[in-house]
Amino acid sequence: MTLKLSQRGRVAPFQVMEIVAQSNALLAQGTSVIRCEVGQPSTSAPSPALLAAQRALDSGDALGYTDSDGLPSLRQGIADLYRSRYDQGVTASEVVVTAGASAACLLSFLAVFEVGDRVGVCEPGYPCYEQMLSSIGCIPVRIPCGVEAHFRCTPDALEAVGGLAGLVIASPSNPTGTIMDAASLTAIVQWCHHNDVWLISDEIYHGITSAKSCRSVREFTEEAIVIGSFSKYFSMTGWRVGWTVSRPDVAEQITHLAANLFLAPNTIAQHAAIGALTPTAISECEEHVRRYDVNRQLLSTALREVGFTTLAPHDGAFYVYANIDPSGCASNDLATTWLHEFGLAAAPGTDFDQADGSHWMRFSVAGSTESILSACEILRHWSLRST
Ligand SMILES: Cc1ncc(COP(=O)(O)O)c(C=O)c1O
Repeated sequence: MTLKLSQRGRVAPFQVMEIVAQSNALLAQGTSVIRCEVGQPSTSAPSPALLAAQRALDSGDALGYTDSDGLPSLRQGIADLYRSRYDQGVTASEVVVTAGASAACLLSFLAVFEVGDRVGVCEPGYPCYEQMLSSIGCIPVRIPCGVEAHFRCTPDALEAVGGLAGLVIASPSNPTGTIMDAASLTAIVQWCHHNDVWLISDEIYHGITSAKSCRSVREFTEEAIVIGSFSKYFSMTGWRVGWTVSRPDVAEQITHLAANLFLAPNTIAQHAAIGALTPTAISECEEHVRRYDVNRQLLSTALREVGFTTLAPHDGAFYVYANIDPSGCASNDLATTWLHEFGLAAAPGTDFDQADGSHWMRFSVAGSTESILSACEILRHWSLRST
């Protein structure tokens, strides 16, 4: 008997996890590593979130399954966020709570795409969209959104690929941090509308911005699925809580899928998420955003000093995406050298961009300012050694 693995399940591994594994091994041996490879805050959940989780544990409640679309009070809290952040009236019936933005993406794709549908994904972009789409039988179509497109998705690029059933965008973007302004978002929304293309807008990095504000696709249309998460702004990656906002009929379809695939989102984490929406929690999160901004400035200055002067516009999220051509190395090789010879972990662009990623490196600045200052020192030291 020969039992085979499925073809569609054969998705590419996330290469940055290789750097993560090597960093962990070095740390376990007692070698110091400054970690700029992983996109997650070094801080814990806001204190009101921790308190809310503790209260739920102490309450004696069984903490059993919640409704498949989440606790009503959390759905209302998320709906209220759209009023306070974007002045948009969203109702709780349009919100479904999910296990992070990851489950929100998968559920959204299942809710609106058929097997064989061509779905646009930005390149450079978050690689998991492509793997998720392939694993459910859709055809991911890479849309060039690099230097020439000023790191934004444009209607021209969409016209050029043609025949799409859907499009996934993220603003601010991972890996670049670039924000699409109101004009660029309107152009994409209108193009999708005219071409009957489902727009999925991953807004997981909303709230983490320096000067520019983030506009939600929800401000321009209700005919899209908007995805959010507690992972990044709220500093709660491991709690696994995210959401979708969509038309009520789409929300209902997502809920039915969620009920069958996952039953319900994690109960204790939902209680924590309710705590994360309080004013005290928000002011803690704003403190982190200020730190990311300082870190971003420090790192981009150091990168320019060592010759990496071409950086993607980093308006938000907590990344700096740098062109590393002046090093004369491919990003995978440079990442290996930096990690093993200098103790600096960064993510090679090849994860995010199959075409051009060997020329780019992504740095996460979501750690402490001390760790970013150390990263800057290492870069200067490397530069002196390599000239
Ligand atoms: C653009 C983007 N979308 C989705 C995710 C998944 O986030 P979550 O932790 O909410 O599942 C990430 C994680 O890094 C991301 O960068």
